[in-house]
Amino acid sequence: MKIGIDRISLYSSHYYIDLKTLAEQRQVDPEKFYFGIGQEKMAVPAPDEDVVTLGANAAYPLMIDEELDDVDLLLFSTESGIDQSKAAGIYVHRLLKLSSHCRTVELKQACYSGTAALQLAVQYVFANPDKKALVIAADIARYDLGSPSEATQGCGAAAMLISSNPRLVTIENKSGYYTEDVMDFWRPNYRSEALVDGKYSVQVYMRILEECWNQYKKNSKLEFKDIDYFCYHIPFTKMAEKAHVKLCRSSNIDVTNEEKAKAVCESLKYSRLMGNCYTASIYVGLTSLLDNTKKDLANSRIGFFSYGSGCVGEFFSGVVEDGYQKYLYNNNHEEMLKNRSPLDYQQYEDIFNYSVPIDGGNYTFPQYKTKFFRLSGINKHKRIYESVNK
Ligand code: CAA
Repeated sequence: MKIGIDRISLYSSHYYIDLKTLAEQRQVDPEKFYFGIGQEKMAVPAPDEDVVTLGANAAYPLMIDEELDDVDLLLFSTESGIDQSKAAGIYVHRLLKLSSHCRTVELKQACYSGTAALQLAVQYVFANPDKKALVIAADIARYDLGSPSEATQGCGAAAMLISSNPRLVTIENKSGYYTEDVMDFWRPNYRSEALVDGKYSVQVYMRILEECWNQYKKNSKLEFKDIDYFCYHIPFTKMAEKAHVKLCRSSNIDVTNEEKAKAVCESLKYSRLMGNCYTASIYVGLTSLLDNTKKDLANSRIGFFSYGSGCVGEFFSGVVEDGYQKYLYNNNHEEMLKNRSPLDYQQYEDIFNYSVPIDGGNYTFPQYKTKFFRLSGINKHKRIYESVNK
């Protein structure tokens, strides 16, 4: 039985800062950001966006297309959650008017938990082929102002419908996965910005890629040549390019080979404009690949490397379905990215320094540009969400 991703929809903030603007302020060569880390624009969440609104906005087109009626499992993955107890997915469940007979839970393991949710959802549908699961991965990547990681912030969400006979990508059942206790990136409960040992995190990412890849090859009996396209976790696009070069080299593939370079580049387009979306990043990459590759990808095998600091990695694969083009939300994504508003440096810093009041008072938040849902206020420590623009 084929099980996999039936629909996928992305959402990111309406606001961004061009990394040239940031480079000027930090007095670094813009080429360090544009070329050295491979990022051009960084999505900045408005004060009335959080992971709930990002996730609900990503899934809204699926609701409008009446794709969510049979969903009875909602897995919400994030590492920028808004509550230590209540799952962000429960707010989303209400906003999307999902059936009450639905299991809803939040998952966490840094950037890996979107993939954990996808794999759990695939197993769930395998046991219940007439059911569907909604996987939402949503995050806001935040580091200290002025730190080396600052230019690798971003925000966004991916909403994926998992079903039998998927119309986009069938997920294959062999993978290679790996866990090790390392401190490369973490965020203690008392901080709203992540801590990271940047260069070390890059080394760990590369090492875990190799561990997962070797186990994947052993389990699947597949080789590099059997994979047509690659989607990596994308903290910044240069990282995915480096990862691809590593896989090429370890498979004795000529890294200058143009065909193989193409195997990764379309997957990086959206991330270059959105920045790191942690749990959603690899699925932003998949969507970018499907939306932007001119060639028909039907029957192509995609290799995925998912990495979550701390750390867990997984290499797995999927095969693109015939006729997938009809089920993409590529026009929405193009329009969303085209119509965003740039921030100047001061606006970026003001938004960065804004935080939701924590005194239990009754506050209504100014309305910024969001798509369908926004965080409209907080009262007695309870977040209030509302629908907009309908
Ligand atoms: N023109 C062109 N390129 C330039 C340049 C210039 N003027 N100046 C520097 N560069 C290049 C450098 O040569 C370097 O390229 P290489 O890596 O190919 O050598 C690149 O720009 C970056 O320069 P630095 O190494 O000096 O950058 P840095 O130390 O200031 O910061 C970083 C880089 C450590 C990755 C930092 O951005 C960071 O800490 N980011 C967050 C952590 C992260 O994303 N880690 C990834 C793995 S962990 C993970 O994936 C989980 C996750 O989502 C966080």
